Amino acid sequence: MTTVCCPGSFDPVTLGHLDIIKRAAAQFDHVVVLVTVNKSKKAMFTPEERMNLIRECVHELPNVTVDHWEGLLVDYTTTHDITAMVKGLRSGLDYEYEKPMAQANSKLTGVETFFLLTTPAYGYISSSIAKEVALLGGDVTGMLPDNVIAALERKRGEL
Ligand code: PNS
Repeated sequence: MTTVCCPGSFDPVTLGHLDIIKRAAAQFDHVVVLVTVNKSKKAMFTPEERMNLIRECVHELPNVTVDHWEGLLVDYTTTHDITAMVKGLRSGLDYEYEKPMAQANSKLTGVETFFLLTTPAYGYISSSIAKEVALLGGDVTGMLPDNVIAALERKRGEL
């Protein structure tokens, strides 16, 4: 059985992320969506909130599970028998950002990174843009799943 992981901050999960997760789930036996902590970013949602939002979105995908990790990705992949990661590429900028990480991870443990090209309709979406639009009262239909839109509306009400 081949288990892969889709790592990311997912703060919050977008329709672009979900597209990559679903496409990975169609290719591999088991996909772990791994919520990580990116210390260079200030998160809006706690890891638990991010995991729950993702779980609500993937509950119909039997081979997708959700987990959380705060250490090195390769330590997670090694200890969970994961031989590859799957990530989405929206643009050349993403490629330049991802390439050294994929190469470093490969050097560390030999773990592979597979890249899926983002579906064009989702190519402009990022968690950061969607959060900014939503928190300023803009329409994020087509960027975020409904449960995430509702969660951002609640956060907006708390500000
Ligand atoms: O969604 P993001 O914030 O762009 O993805 C962040 C990710 C998963 C790339 C990053 O948080 C990460 O790799 N975290 C784990 C720490 C780690 O292993 N760093 C070394 C990478 S070579």
